[in-house]
Amino acid sequence: MLSARRGWRALRRCAALPAAPPPARPRLRVRQALAAREEAGGVAVQGWVRSVRSQKEVLFLHINDGSSLENLQVVADPSLGTRDLTFGSAVEMQGKLVKSPHRMQNMELKAETIRVVGPCDIWSFPLKMKERHPLEYVRQFPHLRCRNNTLGSLLRVRSEATAAIHSFFKENGYVHIHTPIITSNDCEGAGELFKIEVKKNHFFDVPAFLTVSGQLHLEVMAGAFTHVFTFGPTFRAENSQSRRHLAEFYMVEAELSFTESLQDITQVMEDLLKTATSTVLSKCPHDVELFHKYIAPEQKDRLEQMLKKKFVTISYSEAVEILKQAAQTFTFKPEWGCDLQTEHEKYLVKHCGEVPLFVINYPYDIKPFYMRDNEDGPQHTVAAVDLLVPGIGELCGGSLREERLHFIESRLQRLGLADTYQWYLDLRKYGSVPHGGFGMGFERYLQYLLGVDNIKDVIPFPRFSHSCLL
Ligand code: 4AD
Ligand code: MG
Repeated sequence: MLSARRGWRALRRCAALPAAPPPARPRLRVRQALAAREEAGGVAVQGWVRSVRSQKEVLFLHINDGSSLENLQVVADPSLGTRDLTFGSAVEMQGKLVKSPHRMQNMELKAETIRVVGPCDIWSFPLKMKERHPLEYVRQFPHLRCRNNTLGSLLRVRSEATAAIHSFFKENGYVHIHTPIITSNDCEGAGELFKIEVKKNHFFDVPAFLTVSGQLHLEVMAGAFTHVFTFGPTFRAENSQSRRHLAEFYMVEAELSFTESLQDITQVMEDLLKTATSTVLSKCPHDVELFHKYIAPEQKDRLEQMLKKKFVTISYSEAVEILKQAAQTFTFKPEWGCDLQTEHEKYLVKHCGEVPLFVINYPYDIKPFYMRDNEDGPQHTVAAVDLLVPGIGELCGGSLREERLHFIESRLQRLGLADTYQWYLDLRKYGSVPHGGFGMGFERYLQYLLGVDNIKDVIPFPRFSHSCLL
């Protein structure tokens, strides 16, 4: 015997009847429902229950589906409530979207049906209804913490910031390059590499590593495209348990050909920071506000100052002088020729007015091989720049690259790297131009934007965030 559906299909084929799909109920995201201007019947909403309150006459629910910080209020007849309808459960409901009588919200859903798709055992579920869990607490549950308001906001901000950075470069005519994650070069020369091996043997025919920076690959592209950028994961096997270092992090990197001076590079850094920040502030004001209200009350003002003011520039030598004259005693004594420590960077930013600060022209001997020689003396420097920001310290690092063949050749020879970097020397032999670029740590940017102290709290999954291999 034909089933009803097959029978209907057969009948439709014979009679050439138009297809009769099941009546479509418009499925609304919570964000759309909250922003709706018109009342509408027959709508469906899906999400997770953030609160349940059952009164004699009415059942109140708050539903969240990740599309906004704000929940959608649902009102229903108490008879629709079941034992499974608890905090944390996944639900699907249908009903009518109506204007809310409450001052604080625009719309609410009058539910006609409620189906619990996935129940939640509230006794063992580590998140509790209406509790403001501290970041340290939710960090213990990496697989569940995205259901918490703060992490929800963070992840939406992270997503908006990613889009804002991509559109900044797109609008300024940059070509996006996917630089490799597996590579054979150590761009920074600091030896902080994760090696790729299988049973203690190289997986490839040469030693290969997870990339520490896409810069050298961007430099290849800068020989054909005047403006390129990349935005991808980078890896560093640093033995650092600090609040600003990760083993796996995202880096935004740009490379510009035909540069005149470091100022070409610092201008892009400043424009990027200002544009991305104002875009995120306008795209997700409530999510950002949650951090600025409850986690870092001083951050809103810091960002407003940053957006209004021109960034300051000082040289590394000036920075060392400022540090030497500081009343504060530092754990690391400031000395010309030593790298700046976080304590120094934070002091310098305060000293220069709590706005982002470019420190330029670092000692030749402490910087990687690719940086352009300033040919100065007796204190020999390279055209490097670090951008330091309030509360964080170093946010971006960049430089002019050494485009002159004999300079880079002799530096690589001294380092014993000339063979390894033959291909890099080729870039200086065939149509070499003055060029430069920078890298911005995306997680540090999010820390700065939101005022988050611990870098683990701005990444989606913190499990392998810190290296414990060394
Ligand atoms: O200063 P860095 O090491 O610069 C480079 O890698 C250059 N090759 C970039 C370039 O010119 N294209 O790293 C750039 C930024 C730092 O300023 C910092 O914000 C971030 O990357 N960073 C880290 N962020 C989190 N965890 C770590 N372990 C980081 N190391 C660097
Ligand atoms: Mg650096």
